[in-house]
Amino acid sequence: MKRRKVIAANWKMYKTPVQAESFVRIFLSHIAEHQRDEIVLCPSFVCLPAVVAACTGTHLKVGAQNMYWMKEGAYTGEVSAEMLISVGCTHVILGHSERRQYFGETDDTVNAKLKTAIASGLKAIVCVGEVLEEREAGATEDVLRRQTSRALREISAGDSGKFVIAYEPVWAIGTGRTATPDMAGEAHQIIRSEVATQIGKDEAEKLRILYGGSVKPENAKGLLNHDEIDGALVGGASLIPEYFAQIVKY
Ligand code: PGA
Repeated sequence: MKRRKVIAANWKMYKTPVQAESFVRIFLSHIAEHQRDEIVLCPSFVCLPAVVAACTGTHLKVGAQNMYWMKEGAYTGEVSAEMLISVGCTHVILGHSERRQYFGETDDTVNAKLKTAIASGLKAIVCVGEVLEEREAGATEDVLRRQTSRALREISAGDSGKFVIAYEPVWAIGTGRTATPDMAGEAHQIIRSEVATQIGKDEAEKLRILYGGSVKPENAKGLLNHDEIDGALVGGASLIPEYFAQIVKY
């Protein structure tokens, strides 16, 4: 099945609003004509208004890197779905491995956030992926099935168009080690089969599964031309407009 690819930039804790705005200007000059794929920029919270303003009237979408699942309340330091929508966000990354590793994100909190994102109308990019020890111990399939099934608990078939999944092997993030297209493709098949069990076969067929982990201009073509790979979540190489433009034009 032909699925429209999603290419998302995860800027992590980089760029001020002025730097973010300048990125968008330069990036647009390289890809203005390029409408084949869905492109999403995910800056830090404080850059969202500047990036939304710079992307208005273009085909670029803007996402956040995290959110909290409650509507509002005494949750110091947190940001709600409604707040993200109010500044023009359409997407949100959930369950990134850095949030799992450093900030106590769990399969259960990812599930709570996904339910809120879906209910609010934000498109979620749900991240899953094994760490190196798990891969070496032969536990990749178990980890991917567990993370996927728990993230999707109580999500119904009707909601299947409202999120995508990003497979991000933790050992490939920021390390320069990339999964080969076949390794990623194999992991995507596992994730898709788990989604089929949880939600339904047709829904799983339509679901877009992105690959993330050291995607660069040099390896984007090989990854993105693989049938099972429906897009990319790009960290380091998305910080430089010329590099990200080359990835988008793979
Ligand atoms: P990387 O990051 O491209 O720098 O490996 C990917 C990510 O963390 O989403």
